[in-house]
Amino acid sequence: MRFRTLWHASGLVGLLASFALAQAPSAVSASPSKIRNLKLDTGKEIFEAACIGCHGSNGKGALPSSTVFERPSTFPDFSDCNGSMRERENDYKATIYYGGHGRGFSEIMPSFSDALSLEQIDKLVQYLRAFCTEPGWPKGELNFPRALATEKAFPEDEAILTTAITTKYAPSISNDLAYERRLNKRTQLEIGIPFSAAKDSGNWYGGIGDIRVGLKRVLLQNLHTGTILAAQGEVALPTGNRNRGFGTGVTLFETFGALGQALPGNSFVQVQGGMEFPTSTRTLPRATFLRTAVGKSIQADKGLGRMWSPMVEFLADRDLVTGAKTNWDILPQFQVTLSKRQHIRADIGVRMPANNTAGRSPAVVFYVLWDWFDGGIREGWK
Ligand code: HEC
Repeated sequence: MRFRTLWHASGLVGLLASFALAQAPSAVSASPSKIRNLKLDTGKEIFEAACIGCHGSNGKGALPSSTVFERPSTFPDFSDCNGSMRERENDYKATIYYGGHGRGFSEIMPSFSDALSLEQIDKLVQYLRAFCTEPGWPKGELNFPRALATEKAFPEDEAILTTAITTKYAPSISNDLAYERRLNKRTQLEIGIPFSAAKDSGNWYGGIGDIRVGLKRVLLQNLHTGTILAAQGEVALPTGNRNRGFGTGVTLFETFGALGQALPGNSFVQVQGGMEFPTSTRTLPRATFLRTAVGKSIQADKGLGRMWSPMVEFLADRDLVTGAKTNWDILPQFQVTLSKRQHIRADIGVRMPANNTAGRSPAVVFYVLWDWFDGGIREGWK
């Protein structure tokens, strides 16, 4: 029988009974309504009173033989740094306050909104964080919302499908599917597959672009100053049709640095600057680029609800040839979390050339992002 059934069917008596069942002999856990009356101060005291029956004293989960509920695949092991450090404290807070339901998790995880104050929950979150004892894991607080063009410094397990549509000059629909996979604490693999459709002399043509493979490495992260810095190297292969404008026709190496910096009031700035080195500069000149995203995250409901992040990007690129001008674009946009778990997000904006406008079209740009580490596409919505 699932714990949830017990919880709903038999109320508090059943609950206490199942807690008794759920515990190892030494574990003490009280029901949410009981712990309100206990004067619990430290994170450890609260955790031991309210959580170890299910999560175990080491945060790995109580012994399966001592619990009666079915463990969801997402059941946490708080001592696993890979799973726990990437979470934002607010997401843990929301799960504890509203129960699993608050973040689209299993309802077996009870709500503690009546039993614990937000200060007590803050202490608990710090206590949960301390189960990971290995230093150097970038924390979820440094995982700033992804902008449309500026890459993040935080290593991710994500898939992002970005689309840009232009109608002026040469109408086109360009898509880019980026797959990012974290290889370890500081390293991330990225594979990018662009595919586009463009109108040329009255007809539409489609095709893939230049496929790229890159490696990102976090060089520095400091939660105290709110800073994260990463470097990435990547290679783009000439898989796209150059004559149709889908590819550059040469193998291209790219290297960039990405910086994320927290600012007061949930604001942030992200900067990505780098260079492109084509293997043949006769076909394509070397180029540099600098992208900056400034934004702010707003979360309703004591900071525990859906997250909106308005941002504006300033994008500059320049070919490294004498006499070339720097192209500037401005890209206002907003990102919003779609799923309750916040693992599916969308961002939409308009990219506007700010100078050298001849032949450069404005574009509507949007993406759908799936943080696949946090659950399947269809999970976490209710
Ligand atoms: C009745 C058993 C039970 C109790 C008591 C319980 N939890 Fe949970 N908790 C769960 C289950 C089951 C999940 C996994 C839900 C899922 O993944 O769908 C969970 C998930 C969580 C998560 C989400 C982790 C993530 O991956 O985002 C946090 C945080 C959490 N619990 C903290 C606590 C804290 C703190 C307490 C004590 C105040 C507590 N839990 C008490 C069963 C419980």
